[in-house]
Amino acid sequence: MVKLKKAVIPAAGFGTRMLPAAKAIPKEMLPILDRPTIEYVVQEAADAGVDDVLMVVSRDKKAIEDHFDRSPELEARLQAGGRLELIASIAELAKKVQVHSVRQAEQKGLGHAVLQAKRHVGNEPFACMLGDTVFSGDPLPLVQMKQIFDKYQTPVIALEEVPLEKVSRYGIVGGKEVEPGVLRLETLVEKPSPEAAPSRYAICARYILTPDIFAFLENTRPGKGGEIQLTDALKMLCDARPMHGVVLKAHRHDIGNPIDWLKTNLILARRNEATWSQIRPLVEQLLK
Ligand code: UTP
Repeated sequence: MVKLKKAVIPAAGFGTRMLPAAKAIPKEMLPILDRPTIEYVVQEAADAGVDDVLMVVSRDKKAIEDHFDRSPELEARLQAGGRLELIASIAELAKKVQVHSVRQAEQKGLGHAVLQAKRHVGNEPFACMLGDTVFSGDPLPLVQMKQIFDKYQTPVIALEEVPLEKVSRYGIVGGKEVEPGVLRLETLVEKPSPEAAPSRYAICARYILTPDIFAFLENTRPGKGGEIQLTDALKMLCDARPMHGVVLKAHRHDIGNPIDWLKTNLILARRNEATWSQIRPLVEQLLK
């Protein structure tokens, strides 16, 4: 049986919806509560047994690489002050996962970003996790998806059920349910009208892929917005081999625009009693 040990996190997009906040740093470095969004994503990978993470980053945005690098001066200062716990979360993660990075020289789309991982991934399956989306609840997506990958040994796509009137905003899949919440996929349709949608299951920020995706990405022409779309390559993959979709149990939180970023902070604050006890009085006061 092939084991899932690698993850690729595309984080090289321009993040225009998050400007000006994301001009000089990637939106994936914006904090949710006390740590950057990307740390939650790497933690999710580590929880699923991944020990090798490749960040796809852009030339101008080195902060992600720096965040996961050692910082001896800072560590010495914190150690002297007995305050090493302030960066303990990164040290803990660093013990479990090796973080690498590769540049996407031009922002040609998500599919093109994933293609930059070809050499690093080699002949292994890998998780692809969008760095601007985090999840709460149990199990987290990659843990749930890995169980399905281990069982069927096919690519696995995360799915979220969306209201019919919103299907035209997403990539929507069609297929047959082979067990509760698991579909054997037959089609993928990008942004269908409600009448044309094969289901209400939307593709949702997490994928487990096999290395044959790279040949399809290499043959994917620029699609919507002039970008090389991952969904277009997935359609070809789906025609060529069995694939599964799994309806996630966790809740999705987007940080790709200012309102959703703020909502994500509030929702995660609400889930932490110590934090919420300090935020709640303000929320109550604002509601008056
Ligand atoms: P988005 O569709 O959210 O695009 O990318 P974006 O550029 O980040 O943001 P907007 O739409 O301009 O506000 C989805 C994911 O794919 C990555 C992004 O970093 C994000 O995690 N991506 C996108 C790349 O790595 N490279 C690209 O060329 C495009």
